[in-house]
This record gives sequence, structure tokens and C-alpha cells, in this order.
Amino acid sequence: MNTAVKLCGHTLKNPIMTASGTFGFGREYDEFYDIGRLGGIVGKGLTLAPREGNDGVRIAETPSGILNCVGLQNPGVEYFIENELPFMKSKDTVVVANVAGSTVSDYERIVERLSDTDVDMIELNISCPNVKSGGMAFGVLPSGVEEVTRAVRGKCRKPLIVKLSPNVANIADNAKAAELGGADALSLINTITGMAVDLKSRKPLLGNVTGGLSGPCVKPVALRMVRQAYKAVSVPIIGLGGIESAEDVLEFMLCGATAVQVGTANIHDPYAALRIAEDLTNAMKKYKITDVNELIGALIEG
Ligand SMILES: Cc1cc2nc3c(=O)[nH]c(=O)nc-3n(C[C@H](O)[C@H](O)[C@H](O)COP(=O)(O)O)c2cc1C
Repeated sequence: MNTAVKLCGHTLKNPIMTASGTFGFGREYDEFYDIGRLGGIVGKGLTLAPREGNDGVRIAETPSGILNCVGLQNPGVEYFIENELPFMKSKDTVVVANVAGSTVSDYERIVERLSDTDVDMIELNISCPNVKSGGMAFGVLPSGVEEVTRAVRGKCRKPLIVKLSPNVANIADNAKAAELGGADALSLINTITGMAVDLKSRKPLLGNVTGGLSGPCVKPVALRMVRQAYKAVSVPIIGLGGIESAEDVLEFMLCGATAVQVGTANIHDPYAALRIAEDLTNAMKKYKITDVNELIGALIEG
């Protein structure tokens, strides 16, 4: 049985990657299992300078998911290159750096810096507030998606994955805009904006008032968006949102994903990504699949 997939010139031994922000830089998870057994690992979102993240409550449980407003806490790109990247690269897996910024020039500078390292791919988180557009995220309007992608493409000497926000009017338009701007692959979905209320205090539960919803509750939205994006573009798609099992992986691949990322599942079960990767061949056997590649986009509609 074949579980290997090709993504932007790299071969992933299986289509399972980890999702940014749910796996640190892999060290803590490597104490549970060899993270080199995963197809790829994606680190926490990096900014130019270190960030402490948001004050107050940062995570709230919801039915079948969580809300988070961590606020991009990270040690900064230079610390990452010096202290975390060598560890990640010592593992037999594809290493992806996730990048965040609040201006186009932030993104350009981080990506330029990362292009000088041996990181395998760069993933652009465009759900960040754009200071020049009054705080509206880069990823909301297709024009913003195209602009930031094109600018970064000009500086990027690595395969460039653009991670799409689901908080948009039409995901297909945003997918096309990223492709037009020069993305080599797309990943989706990032979290869905939500909030939680504390009845006792009559206050928002999260310190930041709103947060990003993730986990199994977002899976149906993610599957729908992966399908719509797949039909709109020809670059490969990495699907994510609520993946908890090998069956979920097969569903995302049928909808059009070449690879997937496991996020929130890592938080409640540190073995989740490995368990899913190891269970993949059992699920393939059950559904009479000999090569995962045969599934990509093969959903039968109508
Ligand atoms: C605690 C937490 C932190 C996150 N931090 C980032 C981040 O730094 N950059 C990013 O692109 N996505 C970040 N995400 C979004 C996830 O990578 C993923 O897109 C989302 O959670 C949906 O997948 P899931 O339902 O499997 O978690 C974060 C998610 C969570 C739960």
C-alpha cells in the first residue's frame, strides 16, 4: 500500500502533517514519539520580534472544539533559526515554517530570512490583522490575499504555502487570488472567529473577547471549503480542520487535499498525529484503497 504523497517537490512518507500553533516546534511531542514518523511538521507562527501573546484566558472549550486567542506567542524568527530549526531538521520529516505579520514588509522580511535557511517550505498565515487596513486581516478580501502573496513570492526562495482564512465571503475567490499571486500550494482552513460568554460575570470568557474556533466542530466547514478551493485552483491543497482519525484524512483527500494537518487533536491527545498516521493503512484496507493518491479530489458528486 502506498501512503506517500508529493508536495511542492518534496515526498511526504504519509500525508499527515501537524498544524501550526498546536505542536510548538515539535520538541514536546518528540518526547512521546519519534516525530520523524510524520509526513511533515509545521512550527508555531513566527514574527520578526518575539511576542508574549494575549493577556487573560486564552483557551475555552466548546462542544466538540476549542476557542483560542493565544495571540501569536512565539520566540521570533532569529531564535527559531538558531534554536528550533536545527532540532526540527534533525528529524526525518518535511519541515515547514509558519509566518505571521502585520505589514506586507514584515512578511517579506521574515520570508527572506527563512529563505536563507534549510527549512523545506514556508507557510504564510494571512489571517493576521493588517495594520495598514485598519486591522482587517490580509486574508479577508481576494485583493489583499493576492497582494501579500505576490509581494512575498518575490522574496521567497522556498515552496510557498498560503494558508487561507475561512472568515471570508467566497473561499474559491480567495484561493484563486493566492494562486494568482504565486502560491505553490494552499492550506485551509485556519480557525473560524467565535466567542464564548461567562454568564456568572456577564463577561466574554476569553481575554481577547473573540477567538478562533477549531476541532471536530469545524470539520464540515473545512471539508466544504477544501472542495470549493480544489475546484477553483490547480495548485495542491493541504486540508485541515477538526481531523481526529484516519477516516477524516481520507475524507479530506477525496474532497481534494493532497496532504492534511492535524491541529487541535494534538492538544487533547499528544499521540493523535502518530495514531492517525499509523491507522491510515488500516483505513485504506477497509475502503479498498491501495494508493492514497487515487483519492485526491475523487469525490463523486451528483
Ligand atoms: C492554540 C492554537 C494556536 C494556533 N496558532 C496558529 C498559528 O500560529 N498560525 C497558524 O497559521 N494557525 C494557527 N492555529 C490554527 C491551526 O493551525 C488550524 O488551522 C486550526 O486550528 C484548524 O485545525 P484543527 O481543527 O485541526 O485544529 C492555531 C490553532 C490553535 C488551536
